[in-house]
Amino acid sequence: METTHRLVFLVIIAIFFITYLANAQDQQGFISIDCGMPHNESSYTEESTGINYSSDANFIRTGKRARIKNEDPEYGMEYIKPYKRLRYFPVGTRNCYNLTVSEGRHYIIRAVFIYGNYDGLEQRPKFDLHLGPNFWITINLQDEFRTLNRIWLEDGMVEEIIHMPKSNNLDICLVKTGTTTPFISALELRPLRDDAYTTKTGSLKVFFRWYFSSTDSIFGTETIVRYPDDVHDRIWAAEFDDAWTEINVTTPVNSTNAFELPQAIFSKASIPTDAGESWRRGWPMQNQDDIQLYLHFAEIQALTPNDTREFSILWDEKTIISDNYNPPEFMADTVPIRTSTKCDEVCYLELVRADSSTLPPSINAMEVFEVLQLPQSETDENDVIAFKNIQATYRLQKTSWQGDPCVPIYYMWTGLNCSINTFPSIPPRIISIDFSHYGLIGTISSDIQYLNQLEKLDLSNNNLTGRVPEFLAKMKLLTVINLSGNNLSGSIPQSLLNMQKNGLTLLVQGNPNLCVDPSCESEAGDGNNKMKLLLPIVASAASVGVITAVLLLIILFFRKKRQSKAIRPSMVANKRRFTYEEVTKLTNNFERTLGQGGFGLVYHGNLNGNEQVAVKVLSQSSPQGYKEFKAEVDLLLRVHHINLVSLVGYCDEGQHLVLIYEYMSNGNLKQHLSGECSSSPLSWENRLRIAAETAQGLEYLHIGCKPPMIHRDIKSMNILLDNHFQAKLGDFGLSRSFPVGSETHVSTNVAGSPGYLDPEYYRTNWLTEKSDVFSFGVVLLEIITSQPVIDQTREKSHIGKWVGFKLTNGDIKNIVDPSMNGDYDSSSLWKALELAMSCVSPSSSGRPNMSQVANELQECLLSENSRKGGRRDVDSKSSLEQNTSFGPEHIPDAR
Ligand SMILES: *[C@@H]1O[C@H](CO)[C@@H](O)[C@H](O)[C@H]1NC(C)=O
Ligand SMILES: *[C@@H]1O[C@H](CO)[C@@H](O)[C@H](O)[C@H]1NC(C)=O
Ligand SMILES: *[C@@H]1O[C@H](CO)[C@@H](O)[C@H](O)[C@H]1NC(C)=O
Ligand SMILES: *[C@@H]1O[C@H](CO)[C@@H](O)[C@H](O)[C@H]1NC(C)=O
Ligand SMILES: *[C@@H]1O[C@H](CO)[C@@H](O)[C@H](O)[C@H]1NC(C)=O
Ligand SMILES: *[C@@H]1O[C@H](CO)[C@@H](O)[C@H](O)[C@H]1NC(C)=O
Ligand SMILES: *[C@@H]1O[C@H](CO)[C@@H](O)[C@H](O)[C@H]1NC(C)=O
Ligand SMILES: *[C@@H]1O[C@H](CO)[C@@H](O)[C@H](O)[C@H]1NC(C)=O
Ligand SMILES: *[C@@H]1O[C@H](CO)[C@@H](O)[C@H](O)[C@H]1NC(C)=O
Repeated sequence: METTHRLVFLVIIAIFFITYLANAQDQQGFISIDCGMPHNESSYTEESTGINYSSDANFIRTGKRARIKNEDPEYGMEYIKPYKRLRYFPVGTRNCYNLTVSEGRHYIIRAVFIYGNYDGLEQRPKFDLHLGPNFWITINLQDEFRTLNRIWLEDGMVEEIIHMPKSNNLDICLVKTGTTTPFISALELRPLRDDAYTTKTGSLKVFFRWYFSSTDSIFGTETIVRYPDDVHDRIWAAEFDDAWTEINVTTPVNSTNAFELPQAIFSKASIPTDAGESWRRGWPMQNQDDIQLYLHFAEIQALTPNDTREFSILWDEKTIISDNYNPPEFMADTVPIRTSTKCDEVCYLELVRADSSTLPPSINAMEVFEVLQLPQSETDENDVIAFKNIQATYRLQKTSWQGDPCVPIYYMWTGLNCSINTFPSIPPRIISIDFSHYGLIGTISSDIQYLNQLEKLDLSNNNLTGRVPEFLAKMKLLTVINLSGNNLSGSIPQSLLNMQKNGLTLLVQGNPNLCVDPSCESEAGDGNNKMKLLLPIVASAASVGVITAVLLLIILFFRKKRQSKAIRPSMVANKRRFTYEEVTKLTNNFERTLGQGGFGLVYHGNLNGNEQVAVKVLSQSSPQGYKEFKAEVDLLLRVHHINLVSLVGYCDEGQHLVLIYEYMSNGNLKQHLSGECSSSPLSWENRLRIAAETAQGLEYLHIGCKPPMIHRDIKSMNILLDNHFQAKLGDFGLSRSFPVGSETHVSTNVAGSPGYLDPEYYRTNWLTEKSDVFSFGVVLLEIITSQPVIDQTREKSHIGKWVGFKLTNGDIKNIVDPSMNGDYDSSSLWKALELAMSCVSPSSSGRPNMSQVANELQECLLSENSRKGGRRDVDSKSSLEQNTSFGPEHIPDAR
């Protein structure tokens, strides 16, 4: 007897570990937060469940950490997880956790509160819990009736809801309602399948979740089933009744239906002991008038051909849910019940055996939920994004700025006002901003224009500088703009002055440098005063000579501009935000892929039926996240250069992040160097031109941009070629700007591509523009040699080391790409090689800057062109060269 027990014990332990190990790796989408865990402690695996918990530091900015004083295991929760730490909120009325979730996905959201006399006051608190802008439940630890699945919890509370977030951010807020201090021990989010627990309306607050089993496990009271048995980490409690008998089985049940219940639950079922009776269970549930039940069945007895199990399902002693129900054999089946009639104090579920049935009714598990309506919509997403950007621009931080900005109305953020529709499903909008005396520094944020329901804007008495932006005139709902008491300069746009006729109140007094006279309007640039003088002189003199001179100057100015080709203002105006629907349309439903970028797939698109575009879609699994996406959009919106790929538009809608670029029909440089393209090998002239153009794009980033930009991911794959084989630098996702002045470096997490990464940056984390110079040098070596950047089979695996090795051994011939057939001006080639080697010098101080590189390459190109000038016809068969225009206007001016 003893040995049998021991054997059973060992088998169960073994099964436990097998399932544990099989599932332990798979906590996909789980968010498991140990509230009050220090931010510098790394996440840990909790022993009893195998679940990885991490600190809450990244999800909340407020509150204090504490530990429970009473760790007595009697305190109720030890068999679920020993939650020992917590975060409490002595300051502020509403404190919110901000979690990143997937919009439109169903989640189990579980909040755990274990008091454990952490504050030594022996006084259990009472406070409210909100889910986004909606009330969820009052957490009342003073109430004696606190249960988890109807197991009484001595010192805590566990609340659980199945909810579908309507955006990618989910706020879980603790709201102080009395004198006691809110606190929380843990937050657990578990994604579910979309086809389980669906309701037309409402979220499901767990009332209880039972499976039917009479056996106390050999571990004593431990009858809870959760992860890893349950892949969704639902918490199930064993329940039984004297009038029932357990049947059990070891044959597995096919439980692949949407609910994915664990075998541990389907291996047991309950039947009435008296086979002639009904199976019946009641529970008190008094005031709920919207209840959702899920009954889980499977036939777990091997039936003989003569056997039948058939019964009707009766709810609340009168409503027949199903008349002749047969549980399918060894197959999970779930019967949902939604009811809106109140039970008379106790609700009953009854399974009534059919007359013809040879076997009594059976049931495996059931879940009961209250349906909660969470009707209040979150504030309009674009308003929130715009407001957050404004907040970030001015580095504003207020305690009340947590959770939803507008709702619930009592917790509306200070400094704004909203319109809240009487229909809660209509998102609130921000209609007024009052940042008077907020200490704002800098210019008026352009993000204000995206608050397109704004009626009142008060930025008075701050330290704002710069101009009064033109966009304010386009915000048609604005009735009051108060900019008084700042340091604004320039003039007020005429269009804004005109709006005053339409009822706009514009207050600008107390800005000493602001010109309020409408006649200032025609000025531009910073030379206001000079222009003011110049115009009358031109008018009065009216001499042909002066006019001619001015015209000449203008012509010269524009010519110079065109030649430098750096700025293309028309592109700026065209950039726009697309909806995801438009993106779907212009890619013809993502019909044709162009390739795979660091970001996700790139698709071909057609804008207005004639302009080809490349559409980069950020994949969910991409290591590049929203931050990189933002970096790329921000950068490309600011910089414009003929040798940088230009952005046509972007889409930032929910989880859809898309970048739309000009189409580069000739792929990337790497494809051409590696011979992946069918076209003939690149000539030395074209290689030099591509290098020179790329260098100019990079020079522009380093020197032409304010603040300067570091690309951080220069490689041949990121050098793209348009239909004229003009080179443009792409993929700005890793780019960083760095401050000018005394500080010329930034410390960052190392990023970049293997082989191209500056070893000095790698060693020191010290990022300077010389890191890009190193990567560019590697590209230049690729251009000269057509060798892979890293090749373990070479004498030296890294291309820089390899070229250096060849040079010192005098093996110069074998450095140059043989496919060029020696058709190059060797002086230009040597110069380029020298330049490349200086770019890849290990120490950044030994490297030239990009202006020097661009100039050197320009000279190489000129010398190669002059050599080719006399014998152009020789090469004219090359398809590449026919496509390429070499007119003088195409060669950028050497500076
Ligand atoms: C859980 O954490 C452990 C280390 O603490 C790690 O090895 C394991 O991969 C993690 N599992 C998951 C699913 O995150
Ligand atoms: C975390 O930081 C605290 C001080 O803030 C320090 O006492 C503790 O040792 C640190 N723990 C770890 C694991 O680094
Ligand atoms: C299965 O049920 C029988 C009685 O029907 C009981 O004796 C046995 O302990 C049960 N086995 C398990 C593993 O629960
Ligand atoms: C379980 O049932 C599903 C649906 O009927 C079926 O597709 C699947 O093959 C079954 N799995 C097993 C292991 O029998
Ligand atoms: C099934 O029923 C038939 C007639 O009703 C009977 O002859 C047969 O023995 C039964 N078989 C079993 C396995 O009970
Ligand atoms: C919540 O987190 C997201 C992503 O980290 C962030 O964009 C958003 O601004 C945060 N919301 C609040 C209220 O802090
Ligand atoms: C906010 O706007 C409403 C009108 O939508 C107005 O009744 C209320 O007084 C305003 N509140 C504040 C603080 O300005
Ligand atoms: C505003 O800026 C001026 C000049 O930079 C400075 O002297 C003053 O202290 C600033 N005021 C505030 C409130 O920041
Ligand atoms: C504009 O700001 C000034 C300074 O704060 C204030 O005195 C005035 O009342 C404001 N006017 C309006 C219409 O809000």
